[in-house]
Amino acid sequence: MSRIIELLNEEHRNIARLLDVLEHELSVFDRRERPDYEIFQAIIEYFREYPEACHHPKEDVVYQILKQRNPAVAGAVGDVEAEHALEGERLAQFAKVVDDVLADQELPRQTFHAAAQDFLEHQRRHMAKEEQLLFPAALETLTKDDWATIDARIAASKDPMFDGDTQAKFKTLYATILRWEEQTEEDRGRAAAAAATSR
Ligand SMILES: [Fe+2]
Repeated sequence: MSRIIELLNEEHRNIARLLDVLEHELSVFDRRERPDYEIFQAIIEYFREYPEACHHPKEDVVYQILKQRNPAVAGAVGDVEAEHALEGERLAQFAKVVDDVLADQELPRQTFHAAAQDFLEHQRRHMAKEEQLLFPAALETLTKDDWATIDARIAASKDPMFDGDTQAKFKTLYATILRWEEQTEEDRGRAAAAAATSR
């Protein structure tokens, strides 16, 4: 398998883990307990920059080369670049409801739930589409030379300094989100145990 597709799949697995954390915190909100809003904010910060800085550019190059090699195959995959642009809008809506809650704005519970759920669902659907359509189509259609062109184009678009710093920053933020979630869950477990013994 192309190294770049391996890397994209790996990045999807990492993103999927953050979406699981988001889903879990949303389930806490849905049962009318307090979710960890700092985790929501950290996830938003991650999605605000990471996909555009490190993930989408690679997929966009794969898609562009696929379109050149075989427009019909690329057409069947759908417009990957347009979907990437839409992701930003859904993220902005989700970020807005989180900000509203934290600013004590009056907000129907359903509005919060819908914005978070919408972001979550579209992210998952979009990644599934890439995994089930774009990546297999690229692997099947592209030639060795195409992959070399893709690698060269991705390498040329990178600023090594920026790339190194950005990667490190997101690695840290990613680890922080998972650690916070673990701690929050431990605190919830302790609080539940304390409530049970005081009953
Ligand atoms: Fe992706």
